[in-house]
Amino acid sequence: MRTQVGIVGAGPAGLLLSHLLHLRGIDSVVLEARSREYVEQRVRAGVLEQGTVDLLNEAGVGDRMRAEGLPHHGIELRYGGAGHRIAFERLVPGRAITVYGQQEVVKDLIARRLADGGRILFDVPDVALHSLEKDPYLTFQGERLDCDVIAGCDGFHGVSRPSIPEGVLSVFQRDYPFAWLGILARVPPSSEELIYSRGDRGFALHSMRSPEISRFYLQVPPDASLDDWPDERIWAELRARLETVPGFALAEGPIISRDLSAMRSFVAEPMRHGNLYLAGDAAHIVPPTGAKGLNLAVADVRLLTAALAEFYATGSTGLLDTYSASCLKRVWRAQHFSWWMTTLLHTLDDDDPYGRRLQTSHLDYVTSSEAAATTLAENYVGLPFDFGDHP
Ligand code: FAD
Ligand code: DHB
Repeated sequence: MRTQVGIVGAGPAGLLLSHLLHLRGIDSVVLEARSREYVEQRVRAGVLEQGTVDLLNEAGVGDRMRAEGLPHHGIELRYGGAGHRIAFERLVPGRAITVYGQQEVVKDLIARRLADGGRILFDVPDVALHSLEKDPYLTFQGERLDCDVIAGCDGFHGVSRPSIPEGVLSVFQRDYPFAWLGILARVPPSSEELIYSRGDRGFALHSMRSPEISRFYLQVPPDASLDDWPDERIWAELRARLETVPGFALAEGPIISRDLSAMRSFVAEPMRHGNLYLAGDAAHIVPPTGAKGLNLAVADVRLLTAALAEFYATGSTGLLDTYSASCLKRVWRAQHFSWWMTTLLHTLDDDDPYGRRLQTSHLDYVTSSEAAATTLAENYVGLPFDFGDHP
């Protein structure tokens, strides 16, 4: 088998790359370890930045997102017995976020690729990468896929990054001493906007997927197990962490899915080795507090598409050569923002009183200074795609 771009992984990065390349007349094959059902049901992100929404619309895959996604013009920071709204419409006019589940984005992209005759091979768990320096190819299940370049879009635990010889990548990493327990519940959201709540019992986040489905996250110990968290305990803890302002009552309903996520910051540089280009979680991870991971994956594949389009149109490797450096400007900005949101809102077991006072003092600053609130808002809704292009 032969294609122009061999893509490893059918997450948001791999699928969107395959679709954007198709729009530029570039052929690709996507190899995915898991089944179609699995990737379509995997519950993860929910917040799409303005730029992500615009890109999906321009690429013609935004119909269902426009119909079913929920545009939000602010979020609430809740702490110290009060809620404080970060008003996007005032702080960053014209920019907002859309709440639309990652698995819905994935479903829309798979449906569109298949309708356009795209090749996505599911259930291929044994992909291996070869000859990255020259004439690269992929092998799987006794088959060989020759390609001009390989796009490693296979997430943090994938095979692409580990295929790069030792010593080539610089790795930057920080692990956090807590995890997130996430649930989806069949109950209308108790708030119109997302609530990021900081309290002495730990962080809680109230999000949603639709007028009937709510999404919640709880900060839990890093070694927590889902067995430790029966439904009653989850609801009691969500009530304790969210019912902290007068008049707010949390509506409860059946829990329809639950998941645990480690909290990690990670960057591998450069995002290219020979003819292998890494994109999305394969190259970088942020803790989910800033809602940046999926949006970074989209920004990466946007740049990779432009670079490959230039290469196939003119033979120039100019944009391919600057791909990694261009991505990393946004990646590191999002690293800082995600680390900052995480440390602002989570509690540490060994937090000293000084640390706690610093945290609330900083929250007071963000919720009372227009400049500080604008910084949060412009990062949360997403910096423009040309961020970093200007000196
Ligand atoms: P992935 O989605 O991980 O996709 C990689 C794909 O590669 C998978 O389908 C995997 O099965 C496949 N694969 C793995 N190994 C192999 C292999 N060896 N061979 C072939 N295929 C392979 N981001 C946001 O922007 N906003 C949010 O609100 C947000 N909330 C989050 C909440 C939680 C709880 C979590 C866990 C994450 C959240 N994120 C959020 C992050 C976001 O989900 C990820 O950044 C995003 O999934 C990255 O997409 P990706 O395509 O790079 O990687
Ligand atoms: C969601 C996830 C996030 O990480 C976040 O910061 C906000 C919302 C969500 O899944 O809805």
